[in-house]
Amino acid sequence: MTVLTRRNLLKATAAAGLAGFGALTVGKLAGLAAAKPEPLILKTANIEAKLTEADPTKNVLTYGEAGAPPLIRMRKGEPFAARLLNGIDDPTTIHWHGIRVPNKMDGVPFLVQPYVYQGDHFDYAFSPPDAGTFWYHPHCNTLEQMGHGLTGVIVVENPNDPVFDAEVVINLRDWRLGDDGQFIEQFRPRDAAKTGTYGTVRTANWLDQPQYDAPAGGLARLRAAITDVTRIYAFRVDGAEAAVIALDGNPVPQRFAPDALQLGPGQRLELAIRMPDDEGAIVSLRDVRGTKPKILATLRAVGKSLKRDLRDLGQLEANPVAEVDRAAAKRIPLALSATAENVPGDGICGSLGYSFWAINKVPWPGDTPDPTAPLAELKLGQSYIIDMENLTPHSHPIHLHGMSFKVLSSSTRQVQPLVSDTYLIQPDEKVQLGLVADNPGDWLLHCHIIEHQKTGMTSYFRVV
Ligand code: C2O
Ligand code: CU
Repeated sequence: MTVLTRRNLLKATAAAGLAGFGALTVGKLAGLAAAKPEPLILKTANIEAKLTEADPTKNVLTYGEAGAPPLIRMRKGEPFAARLLNGIDDPTTIHWHGIRVPNKMDGVPFLVQPYVYQGDHFDYAFSPPDAGTFWYHPHCNTLEQMGHGLTGVIVVENPNDPVFDAEVVINLRDWRLGDDGQFIEQFRPRDAAKTGTYGTVRTANWLDQPQYDAPAGGLARLRAAITDVTRIYAFRVDGAEAAVIALDGNPVPQRFAPDALQLGPGQRLELAIRMPDDEGAIVSLRDVRGTKPKILATLRAVGKSLKRDLRDLGQLEANPVAEVDRAAAKRIPLALSATAENVPGDGICGSLGYSFWAINKVPWPGDTPDPTAPLAELKLGQSYIIDMENLTPHSHPIHLHGMSFKVLSSSTRQVQPLVSDTYLIQPDEKVQLGLVADNPGDWLLHCHIIEHQKTGMTSYFRVV
């Protein structure tokens, strides 16, 4: 399901059932595309899964009956529907990370929708406005639920995209497992106050270094989503020419080689890889951050060379994101800091019982049934520039729900005007993010290192 070559596309789509709904509409079902879609059933389940050499891991959570959460395919601008059925003994919801949905579909408990208790369901329906790579996860008791497996990838297809010879979709995440293959404590407070607690077992699509085939000399589209609760990656590709074509669901204005490109939890990488000409040649996607670099996944060249050229690859269409009016924009100061103040752990949606972090000096209580006032109230249609400043010695992937922003400038580096929903701000960096407040409702803004999110670094904007 994660590898689609032209040859096996239809077969894979059929096997994936509704998850492949989007891809199948290309041909004879195109006329039905506007009709109300059958909801994709996403049922949470507690399963055993083989994640290590040791015994299968118990208490793994997924959507479906077995294995990793399904890859969901949608089509840009076309209706999508899903029914969340909660089969686990813990209330849950689904958040569609990066997709600009109507507020009621955003999956944040209390702020926009009720809890979905065991045995209950909730119906989600929306038309994704943007094409690209996105992902889905709960927004409740997230350290536990995401840490145990509830993170899946979404591809929103655009029929006008350039043609690739293969597509590989990779869900990158860790697990906190002991030598016996069973879960150990999900976090340590002393780490939550720093970088967050790292997993002990690293996977791509729940596998250790999976290998996928792609036509020799062909152009492969590799989509990777970092769905881990903590880890920041630095990507490199070995064995082939590769170019970053999109980040966080949006095309990059200028393509570049992924030379230790850093991306944090919540972010997505899209690469065009020119496969080697020789059959059997291996291309590897590596994480080179930190002291233990790791091969995440490999691609193997198969067949006779297609002799394609990376430079012939057409541009990806920009998504319909409103242009910021810089002259008229209002400013929103946003300072990220550590805090010594402790807010009582009154979050009932998975409070960790500590506060280590603050936004504008406030350690936010996090997900509570009665959230405090918004960080800022934004006027519908108005342009804003967020002046975000990192006063901590750690990096934070700051994620905004419901709206995309454009990266305007950074105090520490040259930045492209990337359109995104998550910005990985480095220590001592100041950055300007421009956005048009064009989606009404309450939209969370938080660090996607979940331990930071849950210990003070969560707030929200109200757009009215
Ligand atoms: Cu990935 Cu608040 O979300
Ligand atoms: Cu953080």
